[in-house]
Amino acid sequence: MSLIEKIAEQLKGISDTPLLDARFFCAYYQNKPSEAKIADFIQRRSAGEPVSKIIHQKGFWKRDFYVSKFVLDPRPDSETLIEAVKECFPDVTKAYRALDIGTGSGCLILSLCDEYRQLQGIGIDVSTEALAVARQNDAENKIVFKEKNFYTDDFGDLGQFDILISNPPYIPTADIEKLEKSVRLFDPFIALDGGKDGLNAYRRLSHILKKCCHSKSMVFFEIGQGQAEAVCSMMHNENWRFVKSYRDLGGITRVLVFSV
Ligand SMILES: C[S@@+](CC[C@H](N)C(=O)[O-])C[C@H]1O[C@@H](n2cnc3c(N)ncnc32)[C@H](O)[C@@H]1O
Repeated sequence: MSLIEKIAEQLKGISDTPLLDARFFCAYYQNKPSEAKIADFIQRRSAGEPVSKIIHQKGFWKRDFYVSKFVLDPRPDSETLIEAVKECFPDVTKAYRALDIGTGSGCLILSLCDEYRQLQGIGIDVSTEALAVARQNDAENKIVFKEKNFYTDDFGDLGQFDILISNPPYIPTADIEKLEKSVRLFDPFIALDGGKDGLNAYRRLSHILKKCCHSKSMVFFEIGQGQAEAVCSMMHNENWRFVKSYRDLGGITRVLVFSV
């Protein structure tokens, strides 16, 4: 039996994906994890900790990102936002300016940097620790990561952007305790909590983002399941123009695009 199979055997009944978990773990340690690392891995998986948070690595779009307990694990659903930006801004040679609101690991804006080599931009987050993670993921130092709170800070000093992206916290507070353990216990609460109806961040952003836009800017919001109508109506009330929506691989409306 190979080492991967041995570890997978120990994960049976603990994880739904024992072989995959063991493969990621062993690949990370180049097939030579110590006995202590293996024991730690099994124990942490038993407690529901995701593999990504244990090995501090999560694949998103075209590369691996460093992750820690201070950032949301990048999700495959969020890749819909990258696809949406690419469709709306097809010229990858242009030096677009982008703003990422609630940047977390930086996975969204840094993936855009990988597509648009001339892109410049700013990633903001309220969490100092998350910003440190984002900076660590930005090996080429392409993005300026700034501490800002979108509920209380004014964005007037940031200038104007062509592309504005956000995957804000959008889970209704009361639903957080119903989420699976790997999310509820290991993603930061602040990255999940969207307030009573889950829509607090959109409510605020619909109000403050105009000052960061010019006539051709586009805003890309990731949204939760079933939130499209409410977010569209909020944006409509603030005189934004709905451009398009995009579905994720599960067929759920995941990204809404607006212009001024
Ligand atoms: C759902 S996570 C998204 C992280 C990353 N952009 C992604 O897509 O994986 C939301 C992020 O918003 C940040 N955040 C929460 N409240 C905030 C606030 N009031 N101001 C700025 N950022 C905030 C959190 O720290 C978290 O990093």
